[in-house]
Amino acid sequence: MDFLKLAEERYSVRKFKDEKVSESDLEKILKAGHLAPTGCNNQPQRILVMESDEAIEKLKKCTRCHFGTRTALLVCYNRDEVWVRKYDGKTCGVADASIVTTHMMLEAASIGVGSTWVMHFDPAAMVREFNIPENIRPVALLVMGYPADDAEPLDLHSKYRDMSEVVVMNEF
Ligand SMILES: Cc1cc2nc3c(=O)[nH]c(=O)nc-3n(C[C@H](O)[C@H](O)[C@H](O)COP(=O)(O)O)c2cc1C
Repeated sequence: MDFLKLAEERYSVRKFKDEKVSESDLEKILKAGHLAPTGCNNQPQRILVMESDEAIEKLKKCTRCHFGTRTALLVCYNRDEVWVRKYDGKTCGVADASIVTTHMMLEAASIGVGSTWVMHFDPAAMVREFNIPENIRPVALLVMGYPADDAEPLDLHSKYRDMSEVVVMNEF
């Protein structure tokens, strides 16, 4: 599919069929994340796949934005592997995890798997429930599944600022 068409048609799916994402679809989604660029190609991402009933029950203790998902990915980065900018010590960790998440979200959409990027989770609960080590930092939760027959985008989906407000030419 043409990329702009895919970008336009993708929306945050918040109502899923009661089934897991199939192994072959999950493989494609994870592969898309694997191909994502990262700062200095350090690939500090660590992706926790949640698909057992037990994992999903634990996930529900960490966020109310689970939308009844049967398959979710928690995208983290390894703090010890990120590229660091020498001028100000800023690291690429969040950006790396975010582009990995974006690749996976768009690949999912392209094969008919709906998803919502969720930031509204309790990171301390996530660490506790999934035994996440201190150096692994959670960034984004991708809840995924096959869209329910009556799934539809929220109004937010089609609210865009004018391009002239967000694109600045030559100087601020
Ligand atoms: C960084 C980020 C964090 C988000 N966190 C949440 C969240 O916690 N809960 C939720 O329901 N949606 C969340 N979303 C989804 C956005 O609300 C949604 O992408 C936006 O409203 C545009 O709608 P659309 O994805 O349907 O086009 C998040 C999206 C992004 C990119």
